[in-house]
Amino acid sequence: MTLLGDTKVAGASASRSGEVIQIRGGRPLRGQVDVRGAKNLATKAMVASLLGETPSTLRDVPDIRDVEVVRSLLEVHGVAVSEGEEPGSLILDPSAAKSANFEEIDAHAGSSRIPILFCGPLLHLLGQAFIPDLGGCRIGDRPIDFHLDALRAFGAIVDKQPSGIRLSAPEGLHGADIELPYPSVGATEQVLLTAVRANGVTELRNAAIEPEIMDLIGVLQKMGAIISYEPNRVIFIEGVQELRGYDHRSLFDRNEAASWASAALATDGDIFVKGARQYEMLTFLNVYRKVGGDFDITDEGIRFRRGEAPLKPVIVETDVHPGFMTDWQQPLIVALTQAHGTSVVHETVYENRFGFIEALNQMGADIVVHPRGLDGPYRRVPRRALEQAAVITGPTPLRGADIVVPDLRGGYSHVIAALTAEGTSRVSGVGIIRRGYEKFFEKLTALGADFDVVG
Ligand code: EPU
Repeated sequence: MTLLGDTKVAGASASRSGEVIQIRGGRPLRGQVDVRGAKNLATKAMVASLLGETPSTLRDVPDIRDVEVVRSLLEVHGVAVSEGEEPGSLILDPSAAKSANFEEIDAHAGSSRIPILFCGPLLHLLGQAFIPDLGGCRIGDRPIDFHLDALRAFGAIVDKQPSGIRLSAPEGLHGADIELPYPSVGATEQVLLTAVRANGVTELRNAAIEPEIMDLIGVLQKMGAIISYEPNRVIFIEGVQELRGYDHRSLFDRNEAASWASAALATDGDIFVKGARQYEMLTFLNVYRKVGGDFDITDEGIRFRRGEAPLKPVIVETDVHPGFMTDWQQPLIVALTQAHGTSVVHETVYENRFGFIEALNQMGADIVVHPRGLDGPYRRVPRRALEQAAVITGPTPLRGADIVVPDLRGGYSHVIAALTAEGTSRVSGVGIIRRGYEKFFEKLTALGADFDVVG
């Protein structure tokens, strides 16, 4: 294979080289990949560093574009960010934090969803904040009403402007009594990052309890926060006057681990995911086993492959933790095209996370998307209005095609589908995959994938 374009991404304006790859499929992926810190924890922990009086050290930070965006946004707010001695560690020093000007912040518009989490820390630090238009994957409307309602409950004044959102807290922020309409990951993080320095106690009901949230709570406790949680999604935060920096090793990226696991299943390969852990993946592992996947769990990681028998169909509903994550369904669907029988995947978290399926059908898959979801006696997750269902009938051989990736997880799945398919595929827009998958091309190469970067 020829590797022309896996250039290091510098800042929000990444080079577009490495956007198109040509894949010759039909070869199992075999070997080892290392997963590092979770995208969905590391970026939040970086924001938390703004709350400390002293520098923080974050370890196992993945080299992905979302991290670069948050780093750059921290830097324009005066946080000094440098590499630590340990490879993959960052030192974040907020002692010179300051307001940023509009142009500097606006340069980050549309590049990520994380900027919304700067609200609470900036309000505590500076009494005001400006948040640019948000980006992130186009997987639905992705409203921020829960975030803004929570910030208002803390006493923030929210002024929505065409270019972004201006917030102020002339009288400081106070503890709040908040019940989320849905256990949103981002809104829970928003409340945590705001409540830890607010005046008084905050009670958050219907909170998200994903492992990444628990790891963020761990980060905040290291900083001096007082946070406790009860069963039934209730979190209490006692605000404190001052927080210090933390030293923390990020939780592993269980979404990346699950992606490689499904890649092993789809391509009939054998992948050892170093750094993957069982506990945070229990629900995924159960489904993996039901589909006919096999795995060995060791202290160093998890080895994934197919079992002896052909793959079996499965019925899955995505859900908030401890359910089956929405980020796990796309690579799994590629594997399900190779299962013997009819599988159903209900997407209950986002309204538009099946955008990648059209390309799979173009490659020979038999997948019908029901835009309003499906009912049935087997349902566990309460029905949501935005829901969709995919019915996958297999096994269907996949053949190479020209495809354009729609979003991060869908894009990864397209690459896996192309590697599963017989023949050559041209996959465009793969740059987006580097938003969340570290050293993506290097890892594919290590697993024996046959591809060229062509543009
Ligand atoms: N929602 C609202 N209003 C809000 C916030 C959320 O209606 O103010 C809705 C969303 O539209 C969605 C549901 O609540 O229907 C869940 O959204 P959530 O807030 O939980 O998602 P998020 O915080 O925006 C994070 C991850 C996603 C992951 C979801 C679910 C980050 C940066 N993103 O998004 O990750 O799918 O939680 O676990 O942490 C990815 O990694 O590819 C990715 C999209």
